[in-house]
Amino acid sequence: MIIDGKQIAQQRKEELRKQVAGYTKQYGRAPGLDVIIVGENPASMSYVRSKRKAAAYCGIGGELIQLPETISQDELLGVIRACNKKEDVDGLLVQLPLPEQIDVQTVLEAIDPAKDVDGFHPSNVAALWLNDPAVVPCTPLGIMALLEESQTSLEGKHAVVVGRSNIVGKPIAKLLLDKNCTVTLAHSRTADLGAICSKADILVVAVGKPKMITGEMVKQGATIIDVGINRTKDGRLVGDVDFDAVAPVAGAITPVPGGVGPMTITMLMQNTIACYLKRINK
Ligand code: GUN
Repeated sequence: MIIDGKQIAQQRKEELRKQVAGYTKQYGRAPGLDVIIVGENPASMSYVRSKRKAAAYCGIGGELIQLPETISQDELLGVIRACNKKEDVDGLLVQLPLPEQIDVQTVLEAIDPAKDVDGFHPSNVAALWLNDPAVVPCTPLGIMALLEESQTSLEGKHAVVVGRSNIVGKPIAKLLLDKNCTVTLAHSRTADLGAICSKADILVVAVGKPKMITGEMVKQGATIIDVGINRTKDGRLVGDVDFDAVAPVAGAITPVPGGVGPMTITMLMQNTIACYLKRINK
């Protein structure tokens, strides 16, 4: 089975759009999401446009703030502080990666945790690991939604996560642990990765390397979640999984494009609405 992330994301976005219409009437204003991008990296530009497009679709306001590649850290922090103060902005994100003159952690810590729809602020990261109320990062939330929609049972299953980033690997490992999976957190340098992956009932791969996962590395019937987004020399988008080799072995698999990516953006809308409701009801 191919897990149709695009379709599931569209259905959920439709539900969010209806919710937003109701809340906007009830509370007298729409939720707002400001998206900040520094520079003109084509992949990042494409992501932020998709985020703003989804926001507009859902009836969420806010703006795309484009800043020059050469901006200083202090100037960027100034823009973030101004967004923190905007009454009608409930969600704020700075697209990553950032140019090298800017310290990512300083930037993430400048975002008001109550508006941190990415869930990257240290207070949200800590809250997630302590089981306190937290904004959970969008890609892990999207993966959990896809596992739910594909009726993948999690209790007692062995999940292998390949990739240890703060954005995907570490938080998805935590969410799977919470569902009583036994989790192995591996990475691109794990010795004998094939032997470990072939034990996985659920395999989540977020490394950024085409064909990292081959057919022989996958257990028959496993659920495969491919978080990789790589561009081939001829301009095609591919994941980290050799789809043609793995799909015949897998029980369920996400395609690239059209798998995790669209779900991430829908979860960003969900997080924005949740931050809005929290701020409105304070
Ligand atoms: N760059 C890659 N993924 C993400 C994400 O989820 N949020 C932000 N802000 N930047 C990213």
